[in-house]
Amino acid sequence: YKINVEASSASRRGKSRTQHHHQLNALVLGQAPASEQDDLCLPSHDFSSQALVPSFHKYMDMYKRSVEDPAGFWSDIAAQFYWKSRWDPAVCSGNLDVRKGNVNIKWFEGGITNICYNCLDKNIELGNGDKIAIYWEGNEPGADASLTYTQLLQRVCQLANYLKDIGVRKGDAVLIYLPMLAELPIAMLACARIGAVHSVVFAGFSAESVAQRINDCKPKVMITCNAVMRGSKLINLKQIVDAALAESSQHGFSLGVCLTYENKPAMKREATGWQVGRDVWWQDVVPKYPTMSEVEWVDAEDPLFLLYTSGSTGKPKGVLHTTGGYMVYSATTFKYAFDYKPEDVYWCTADCGWITGHSYVTYGPMLNGATVVVFEGAPNYPDPGRSWAIVDKYKVTLLYTAPTLVRSLMREGNEHVTRYSRKSLRVLGSVGEPINPSAWRWFYNVIGDSRCPISDTWWQTETGGFMITPLPGAWPQKPGSATFPFFGIQPVIVDDKGNELEGECTGYLCIKGSWPGAFRTLYGDHERYETAYFKPFPGYYFSGDGCSRDKDGYYWLTGRVDDVINVSGHRIGTAEVESALLSHYQCTEAAVVGVEHEVKGQGIYAFVTLAEGVPYSEELRKSLILAVRKQIGAFAAPDKIHWAPGLPKTRSGKIMRRILRKIASKQWDELGDTSTLAEPNVVDQLIALADH
Ligand code: PRX
Repeated sequence: YKINVEASSASRRGKSRTQHHHQLNALVLGQAPASEQDDLCLPSHDFSSQALVPSFHKYMDMYKRSVEDPAGFWSDIAAQFYWKSRWDPAVCSGNLDVRKGNVNIKWFEGGITNICYNCLDKNIELGNGDKIAIYWEGNEPGADASLTYTQLLQRVCQLANYLKDIGVRKGDAVLIYLPMLAELPIAMLACARIGAVHSVVFAGFSAESVAQRINDCKPKVMITCNAVMRGSKLINLKQIVDAALAESSQHGFSLGVCLTYENKPAMKREATGWQVGRDVWWQDVVPKYPTMSEVEWVDAEDPLFLLYTSGSTGKPKGVLHTTGGYMVYSATTFKYAFDYKPEDVYWCTADCGWITGHSYVTYGPMLNGATVVVFEGAPNYPDPGRSWAIVDKYKVTLLYTAPTLVRSLMREGNEHVTRYSRKSLRVLGSVGEPINPSAWRWFYNVIGDSRCPISDTWWQTETGGFMITPLPGAWPQKPGSATFPFFGIQPVIVDDKGNELEGECTGYLCIKGSWPGAFRTLYGDHERYETAYFKPFPGYYFSGDGCSRDKDGYYWLTGRVDDVINVSGHRIGTAEVESALLSHYQCTEAAVVGVEHEVKGQGIYAFVTLAEGVPYSEELRKSLILAVRKQIGAFAAPDKIHWAPGLPKTRSGKIMRRILRKIASKQWDELGDTSTLAEPNVVDQLIALADH
């Protein structure tokens, strides 16, 4: 696998190749690069010389070993963690070949460890007990708190002791539905400490979505809080949980304990709905427990957490990650992709309800003993400068965020940024969707003052950690490209027949081989795991993303190729939105597609057919949107409802989404072949009903 950075965008910009060649050689040799700005974004000499991976050569040395001897490479890294007993060196791989039987990935099996111990106790033993683990910043400016590693361990132990006392055992599921309070990572770590399997549900999901997840994983305990302020809006989370539990009880489910944190600034106890016997206030019980607790030692392949994500069918998938491999992988990716140094202050704006908050708010950084900012509020509250106020307040050095946030702040104007210093920033990160070059440049030039490399990290809930990502300082960046694979990752681009494409190409992104952070199954449905991910292109893991590789070997992600859309970095299955729309009694058919959106990346565009004789109305439009908010959550609300007397279908009744996508994006003269449609005139009808 080759890199040819020398030839990179030189020609695009009309600069001489030789000039670039010299710059790149200078970079590789560790000399100061020429200072002129151009398409290739070169890290400064100062940055590179102090980086963990200072050059492409060094990366290649490590990369080569990681793919030629994965077991050796990862075992050396794993040895830096605490293991009660060592793993079987033979179990560091995976059978990914569906033709040869079950897809079966295992790393470090037989090794006995605990990820919470490695996050907390181990760092304290290393002398970091007084180091800040969490700076918590509340919704209201001025509301804040901090916890050292020792204090965090104590809080985790108290909760772990309580959970054990009420009967939570190794392997039991605990559903966590909390906003970004410090109690959220505390709850995750407490579960990990006692070997319970946490399933965090993003606190923006509706009661029905929570119920669906409860019915699937049947938690022994739920952990929530009474309410939260999101900007200036009060959200009564406990009410949502109560509704979810009422719904689940109709499926015969009954919850043992609902541990409820009293988030007093948002809502008082008295105003909170309560079911005596089931509901318990966190503050009434947890602080009474001892601040030390035994660790439940678990096998590397014991489950750590379940996280539900959207696929191309209506039912969310319970992605299951296990302990040892995930631990090694989340920590290592964090360390290298952010060029982590012990004095860094790291802030990831993601919520722990998504994988980013698992791997890169909680586990990855804490395994490295990092200081992490946890922010409860919204980036535009009380004004669009809030993020930079936080950066300055905590002297954040590593900032990890999403393109959608970058784009929305970009629209607010530079003055909200430039009135803050931001000089502490060292590395920026981006995740969740492709970052368009203009947002990349604004992020780089304005937020980072053209000083901070950007790690555009491509990965997924399923992959556990970064897969394709820049290593800051190691090579030049290209705005909009996630650049090169992380250690141990072998991306391949295939055509629709599954042939591996060479060199410069575009196709489907797959991964060859296995890596420690990979998910091991879909909870309760290993067959779906194999069918959805390993059967489309036998022998490979199929990501669901499209991708190009340019002549210099850089990877460019082009978005999902399946029926999943990515709205503000939130992954939403079109089938889920369709089924929510269909729950409305006046809707007989619905087809949802993604459409380009200036801020959100993709917007949700829904074609809706109404029951015979029902007239379209603004009121009906609103009630359809409400149906989606109710079934999934506000973040999945369609941006556009397009009335559809009929939908373009093949003669066998399959909806032709390709055509709907073109109609939604107003590319009416690029509809392609419509001759296979059962009723070609529906297309004209739809165009006539579009906004012109
Ligand atoms: O389409 C890709 C997009 O997000 C999808 C994964 O979504 P999820 O499992 O929710 O995880 C989001 C956080 C990792 C991918 O299939 N995606 C994620 N990061 C990038 C990206 N697309 C382009 N560039 C990225 N950096």
